[in-house]
Amino acid sequence: MSSSNRTNIPNSLNEHWMPFTDNKTFKKNPRLITDAKGVYLTNHQGKKMIDASSGLFCNPLGHGRKEITEAVSKQLDKLDYCQPFNQGYGGSFELATRIAKKTPEGINRIFYTICGSTAVETAIKIAIAYHRAKGDSKRFRFVGRERGYHGMNIGATTVGGMINNVKTFASVLMPGVQHMRHTHLPEHKFVKGQPDTGVEMAEDLERIAMNFGGENIAACIVEPIAGSTGTLVPPKGYLKRIREICDKHGILLIFDEVITGWGRTGSAFASQEFGVTPDMITMAKATTNGVIPMGVVAVKEEMYDAVLDSSKNPEGTPELFHGYTYSGIPAAVAAGLAVQDIFDKEDIFNRAKDMSPYFQDGLHSLKDLKEVVSIRGYGMMGGIEIKMKDKPGKSGFQTFKHCYDAGVNFKNTGDTLIIAPQFICEKKHIDEIIEKLRTGISNYSKS
Ligand SMILES: Cc1ncc(COP(=O)(O)O)c(C=O)c1O
Repeated sequence: MSSSNRTNIPNSLNEHWMPFTDNKTFKKNPRLITDAKGVYLTNHQGKKMIDASSGLFCNPLGHGRKEITEAVSKQLDKLDYCQPFNQGYGGSFELATRIAKKTPEGINRIFYTICGSTAVETAIKIAIAYHRAKGDSKRFRFVGRERGYHGMNIGATTVGGMINNVKTFASVLMPGVQHMRHTHLPEHKFVKGQPDTGVEMAEDLERIAMNFGGENIAACIVEPIAGSTGTLVPPKGYLKRIREICDKHGILLIFDEVITGWGRTGSAFASQEFGVTPDMITMAKATTNGVIPMGVVAVKEEMYDAVLDSSKNPEGTPELFHGYTYSGIPAAVAAGLAVQDIFDKEDIFNRAKDMSPYFQDGLHSLKDLKEVVSIRGYGMMGGIEIKMKDKPGKSGFQTFKHCYDAGVNFKNTGDTLIIAPQFICEKKHIDEIIEKLRTGISNYSKS
């Protein structure tokens, strides 16, 4: 099939090795998406579905936003690429300024990457570079958390804590990484918002600092709300306590806000929502409304200054030997700027905040379904856990397929359904998502 003669159904499904996919099963019965508009998707059989997870948390502004596609296309006509090393173009500086206006105060130096994984990898390297710049090169350890997801490069895989993602690669993981326990306790099963119990789980960081020497730890990385594992909301006071322990030992705190960033909690960043300021924030996904890959690390100004000031490299030589061919490329930046315009014009974060209680009520109304064993949520994100049968993941995937047939699309992680509606949803769309989830989950339990 030539590119000018592209249809929605490919001639062969064999060659594409799909990511995070059961390729064998998928290729027998594919689910191909052909069109996306607003909150709806259409598949290759012409079936219309509501998008209940904003793609992979990527498209909170809805699909097919003309403002974004036009900005990208205009940019490509004018300047399609410009090398980002020792050169640049105005747009990436403008976007950095706009991002820095929305990040917590002081976290205002912006490093562009390609995606969430490379943002995390970059944050890990910046942590090391910063400590070295301060003459503290013995700090090499990192602390992550069980059930965390930070992406798929080696550093990001290592600090992550989802067992299936690490077990095949155990032999190549980064050394010196410890994990805190996750924060999901049995009594959190149907808690709306932040649980009252569990703040003591933060003491795991203190324990790791005691066992391995806090002075050897470069950084601790957490998702403020663990997203990919199915929305684990931090217990009240937990993030604040993590911050205190980091401060006590000189450990940097990285909030991975690839999912929670850009309004998912109802504030621009979860950091602001929970009133805890890290040293670095990673973001991706909604930065461009998902249309062009882009990752970002927002770094404390003081850290940037330390790395630059300590450099003894000759003129023209980088202070930080790190970057990507696609760091802040024009098309991604154009999308990012158009997204910022929409955030401002449509007061998107407040819109998400206002819709959150309605969405959370809807989500928790599914509690009566007999296969549902836990519902967690915060802001415009939620997880519905389906009772495990036979093997982990089987009931989650079966339920996903029934929901897909019922006309609602999302992702399942293991036995948890990941629900993250778009911020442009109206109440009627939330109703539709919940109603179709009810149908899909009920049909699964009858099957
Ligand atoms: C919190 C978090 N960090 C990092 C990543 C990796 O992002 P990407 O898939 O863009 O590399 C993800 C992806 O879901 C994520 O949820």
